[in-house]
Amino acid sequence: MIETTVSTSTTYSILIGHQLLPRLGEESAAIIKGRSAVIVSDSNVWPIYGAEAIASLEQVGFRVCSFIVPAGESSKNGENYLNLLNFLAEHQLTRSDCLIALGGGVIGDLTGFAAATYLRGIPYIQVPTTLLAMVDSSVGGKTAINLPSGKNLAGAFYQPALVLCHIDALDTLPADRFTEGCAEVIKYGLLYDAPLFSNLEESGTEFDRVSVIAKCIEWKKQVVMADEFDTGIRRMLNLGHTIGHSIEKASNYAISHGAAVSIGIAIISRYAVSQRLCSEEDCRRIIDVLTKFGLPTHTTFPVDVLTQHALSDKKRQGDQISLIVPATIGCCKLIQVSTFDLENCVKEGM
Ligand code: NAD
Ligand code: GLY
Repeated sequence: MIETTVSTSTTYSILIGHQLLPRLGEESAAIIKGRSAVIVSDSNVWPIYGAEAIASLEQVGFRVCSFIVPAGESSKNGENYLNLLNFLAEHQLTRSDCLIALGGGVIGDLTGFAAATYLRGIPYIQVPTTLLAMVDSSVGGKTAINLPSGKNLAGAFYQPALVLCHIDALDTLPADRFTEGCAEVIKYGLLYDAPLFSNLEESGTEFDRVSVIAKCIEWKKQVVMADEFDTGIRRMLNLGHTIGHSIEKASNYAISHGAAVSIGIAIISRYAVSQRLCSEEDCRRIIDVLTKFGLPTHTTFPVDVLTQHALSDKKRQGDQISLIVPATIGCCKLIQVSTFDLENCVKEGM
């Protein structure tokens, strides 16, 4: 098992390894004072991992309840959020008890936001079960739900009390979901780590899970520790996300986050070449590695639709929007673009 510590406004451990779910109870008991836990999960994950999570928690004396939502992005909504808060109140959870997010990024974001706001803050533990959630969403305390006008528009920065990456959960993850998570893995290589990027070019999806996931988490941890509240270098993690979020929204979330980020990375890379910010060779490597992983690199949504959605993005400030563009493999830059020029940027990258 690999253990790493994140020091932000609060300090917490991330455990990465095989057979960690059976240790959920003892690891939780070591950091949570109360003995009531609400597990939040979804309709796919709960039947596979719910019983093991409950058994582990009950073994060390937790009283456990569960709150299960339908699987999918549409569950990250205001109705489920309020229902969850009411559920916590009805079950008399106190600030010394905890929530446990057992699932992918949807569950992590929803649970984290409820934890941030219920009683003005109650501890929560992330048990990510998708690759995307392990390498990205479970670490760093960004929590959110979607509003009808856009993704993640209501949320809070609220760090988990523990992250437990039970790598074996990936064995039941459908192949396309695993591939989608690979978009975030490739993102770390492109942003910070040329050797990781080269390894991924070689291995494709057959990379060593524990070491690559631990590597990505280490990058995320460093960024979050340097900029917990996303005012500086953390914005780099949005590589591919501005246009990616537009694609998700335009598809009414039928296109997954990971697939949309992959297309977003491809579009911004082609745009970077058009502006001579990145070489054609590096752009080719980026598109090739995404393709090797079976990720999409094009969209048929019209430029004006993508631009309109991007303009409601959180990264917009007045008439400026920040975009992360690749400079070389392992090094990206943040540039400011006028909202009036955004449509041209997207057009260049299509
Ligand atoms: P997800 O949570 O919807 O999970 C994907 C699918 O896989 C779901 O159908 C789920 O039921 C299923 N699943 C999950 N684990 C499984 C397992 N082990 N076995 C079988 N099926 C399993 O999606 P995701 O890709 O994990 O996360 C996407 C979400 O994360 C988006 O809402 C995105 O905005 C958010 N996100 C948040 C952050 C952050 O920093 N908070 C970062 C990136 C993404
Ligand atoms: N997923 C982007 C961030 O955590 O900042």
